[in-house]
Amino acid sequence: MIKVITYGTYDLLHYGHIKLLERAKALGDYLIVGVTADDFDKKRGKINVSQSLMERIEAVRATGIADEIIVEEYEGQKIDDIRKYGVDIFTVGSDWEGKFDYLNEYCKVVYLPRTEGVSSSEIRTAQAGVRLGLVGDSLFLNKVYNETAFVNGLKVYALCTNNSELTDGELKRTELITNSYDELLENVDAVYLRSLPSEHYEQIKKALDCGRHVLCESPVTVDEAQCEELYALAREKKLILMEAIKTAYSTAFARLLLLIKGGSIGNVISVDATCTSLKQYAGTIRTDWNGIYEWGPTALLPVLEILGTGYKNINMIAHFEDDEHLHDSFVKMDFLYDHAVASIKVGDGVKSEGELIISGTKGYIYVPAPWWKTDYFEVRYENPDDNRRHFYQLDGEGIRYELVAFVRAIERGSQISNIDEAVTFKMAEIMKEFENRENVTVI
Ligand code: CTP
Repeated sequence: MIKVITYGTYDLLHYGHIKLLERAKALGDYLIVGVTADDFDKKRGKINVSQSLMERIEAVRATGIADEIIVEEYEGQKIDDIRKYGVDIFTVGSDWEGKFDYLNEYCKVVYLPRTEGVSSSEIRTAQAGVRLGLVGDSLFLNKVYNETAFVNGLKVYALCTNNSELTDGELKRTELITNSYDELLENVDAVYLRSLPSEHYEQIKKALDCGRHVLCESPVTVDEAQCEELYALAREKKLILMEAIKTAYSTAFARLLLLIKGGSIGNVISVDATCTSLKQYAGTIRTDWNGIYEWGPTALLPVLEILGTGYKNINMIAHFEDDEHLHDSFVKMDFLYDHAVASIKVGDGVKSEGELIISGTKGYIYVPAPWWKTDYFEVRYENPDDNRRHFYQLDGEGIRYELVAFVRAIERGSQISNIDEAVTFKMAEIMKEFENRENVTVI
């Protein structure tokens, strides 16, 4: 009996897949199909697969062509499988020509002709063509623009800015460049806002009133009531309003939260997060945000996600770089909960070690600097033998995953944010308190 094996993602199964499976089966008597696990796809940079592993397996099973279906979970597994199942022929489509020649050592390798004119990527793009408009003067928009290239079903179509540094760069390829927000809204399906936080409320309201989805850099607003009003409006209009904090979409951070919820460090007693940067404003006008806006939401994220929004009091200490107290360069916030404490240090003009430490009754979690774009953390215990290290691939600082979540939410027509709404509202409230200098001591 000749055993054949082939692998693939088989997302939104199409006739190109079926042809390939038929040809693979015809090479022998018994066909094993390896379907890639979600995590494995993510690791190899395929992040926008539409269907779950179970759905994809079901689709392959329904073709009736495979004699056996297995899951591909790790790099190097193909060699293991070939040995384990006694495979005679390994085959894939010609788009992989040459890539698997190293398997010739273990079995025969055959590249089958790929069916022209169809692919999962094309189907995904055709299914959801979201035209995105970028708004703001921050150079950060360049990063977002570059990351959209990795996200199917999303295309940057317009840019609304007053910053010529942006329009001179890569973003000049954008079809529509304007300084009129109204004109931008007329030409897109969704907006990504990186404008100043004080502008968010009006811009979000306008976008929602025009039937546009919104992805907005945190803080969504600098007022809790306004924030709640906007989320209610989005719900009423069946539109997506999502807060953008890229760290919330990093796999390591998401897994860390799950481990804590699962009790791996016992009860959390303290959360300490530090985020700082020294920026060069060499000659350019400040088109970006002040310290508290730049880093506050990111540093607050682990505190509010882990300990909740029900703290008993908050104390803020701020240092400003100007006599008018307009530009804060360092802020420390201390939170008191019934059974825990938390502290964040954020600086846009002061430098410190950007680590995150979550202390619990059984152990603690240590995330080294810069924790907000980490692919790694450690769970540490009294006995070092029990310590565990966790690595997760992080592509595009999380921005890519955030954009994928936004497109998914639009496709499904339901909010699927990694950030609790209560956390979003609380962040807006804290920002307002800071603006009003409530509970703030200036040093
Ligand atoms: N395949 C094929 N003809 C196509 C598309 C895919 O023969 N038109 C083959 C691939 O060569 C591979 C298998 O089907 O052997 C599974 O491919 P997969 O990567 O799941 O499908 P794609 O449509 O190429 O997916 P994507 O667009 O996400 O890369």
